[in-house]
Amino acid sequence: MSVTVFGSINMDIVMRVDRLPKAGETVAASSLQHLPGGKGSNQAVASAHFGASTRMIGAVGSDEFGTAMRDFLAETGVDIAGVDRLAGPTGLAHVFVSDEGENQIVIVAGANGDVAAPAGWTAFGEGRAVALAQLEVPVAATAAFLAQARNGGAITILNTAPALTIPDAMLDDADLLILNETELAFFLGTAPPEGRVAAADAARRLLRRTDQWVVVTLGGAGIVAVAHGDEIAVAAPRVPVVDTTGAGDTFCGVLAAGLSEGLAMAAALRLACTAASLSVQRVGAAASMPVRAEVDAAMTVAIA
Ligand code: RIB
Repeated sequence: MSVTVFGSINMDIVMRVDRLPKAGETVAASSLQHLPGGKGSNQAVASAHFGASTRMIGAVGSDEFGTAMRDFLAETGVDIAGVDRLAGPTGLAHVFVSDEGENQIVIVAGANGDVAAPAGWTAFGEGRAVALAQLEVPVAATAAFLAQARNGGAITILNTAPALTIPDAMLDDADLLILNETELAFFLGTAPPEGRVAAADAARRLLRRTDQWVVVTLGGAGIVAVAHGDEIAVAAPRVPVVDTTGAGDTFCGVLAAGLSEGLAMAAALRLACTAASLSVQRVGAAASMPVRAEVDAAMTVAIA
């Protein structure tokens, strides 16, 4: 099983607050931590923790955060040969997390803004190749990566976060699109759907190919996934929420790893939901991601 992640690498500056500030308001933080983040990097960590051979393609800057992020990914078991070291700063995210576990995030692109398209798709690892991308590095480079990976025979996944205007070809090149309700509304030009049935109906409108899946993440309500003539809903386990940062990334990385292992879509979606429910019970993005044994144990509890 092998997963290639193309995307962002950030250092997260995480501030814990009683409640998220409103516009124009100042609030005091009770703690400040530097934690590994970036949607691409987080998804690579989730995939590696799940046991997939995982490589990261992206860039860090020439600062201390760049060294720290490269070291962190390598120690996690992610292949970082495709992580360039560029002049200038590493990507940063300012993350506020409230007592309810909700967050607000502002990113500064840094080196992520200069990530270039890979020279071409190359095989990596064993088993079914999966290629996974998000939208925190330049759109043109991400579009090229997806097209190369699709032509190279990989299962392609695009997590459209954060929502941006992108060429239709990118939506076509993804075998799976993963979005939350807000991102789905952005792409359809509608209000966010309310509830699972409305989300499934809306997701069906985004389908562009008969062999494509659109997966909508619904936070504490789980996920719904639709394909031509197919629908799978997975309820999220009810768990105490400490920090939702990186829950979507955990879902994406574990889903990619599960599919690369050859699991059926329903089985991979259930594992990914369970992994995300474990991640929200801990602080941080990459720091909160479970290993395979924890996910398997939580699945056993859920079934018992
Ligand atoms: O999805 C969570 C991530 O979004 C954070 O780690 C932050 O770096 C931003 O990229």
